[in-house]
Amino acid sequence: MPTTVVTGANRGIGLELVSQCLERGDTVIAGCRSPDDAHDLKGLAPNEILELDVGDETSINSFTHAIEEPIDLLINNAGTSVSNLGLDREQAGVLNAPIDLTLDLIRINGLSAAAVTRNLLQRFQPGSQVVNVTSQIGSMVIGANFDDLPYAASKAVMNMVTVQLATQLKDQGISVVAFHPGWVRTDMGGSGADLSVEESAQGILATMQTFEHADSGSFLRWDGSVHPW
Ligand SMILES: NC(=O)c1ccc[n+]([C@@H]2O[C@H](COP(=O)([O-])OP(=O)(O)OC[C@H]3O[C@@H](n4cnc5c(N)ncnc54)[C@H](OP(=O)(O)O)[C@@H]3O)[C@@H](O)[C@H]2O)c1
Repeated sequence: MPTTVVTGANRGIGLELVSQCLERGDTVIAGCRSPDDAHDLKGLAPNEILELDVGDETSINSFTHAIEEPIDLLINNAGTSVSNLGLDREQAGVLNAPIDLTLDLIRINGLSAAAVTRNLLQRFQPGSQVVNVTSQIGSMVIGANFDDLPYAASKAVMNMVTVQLATQLKDQGISVVAFHPGWVRTDMGGSGADLSVEESAQGILATMQTFEHADSGSFLRWDGSVHPW
């Protein structure tokens, strides 16, 4: 059975990715900040639930060191927004955004994908896949019109992490892909969003099942279509 690792697994898109991976028979290792409080996740009974705060390098190291199985699919899904870090969205534009908070978001949403992935290199083999759940806001074209510098910059960093990892890992047969999951009805996306978590997760997982390694380094939408950078 394939082994899948999902970060930010206790709610939203991450929880649904865990659910669908378990349903199709994967061994699932789920990372979340507070395993004791992760009642919905525990209800799905993944094979392992490990503590992971992607904003804390010590936590990332403990998480990755605890994983001993070969990994087929790593999904770097954990992510947050300025409002979760205590900043009013009105103050998040490029003319106002506090630099320290912007750096915090870049660390959590962008650089953590590099840290988690490179720590797990020994667990990958040819054919392993890494999915980075980014956002269309990380594209230069769409991000240009989005008045939230920390989030846009953090996802642009995740996109750069994706293409650089793809280059470095290409010869080892490890694919790395950035996915815009769509505008999804979660705590982050809000109740008025276009897609259900089921549609988003199903699209990402189905796309990766037929993914060609030659396309590593792509930026895709949840439905497998190519997203412009
Ligand atoms: N929903 C959308 O429309 C949308 C659109 C584009 C991209 N995305 C991206 O999709 C991913 C999932 O988002 P979502 O909509 O499912 O959001 P969500 O419902 O707010 O869930 C976010 C998940 O990330 C976790 N997380 C946040 N900060 C973390 C940290 N420092 N360490 C570890 N885990 C952390 C949360 O855990 P806690 O419960 O501990 O906070 C939660 O499990 C994110 O990367 C987001 O940027 C979402």
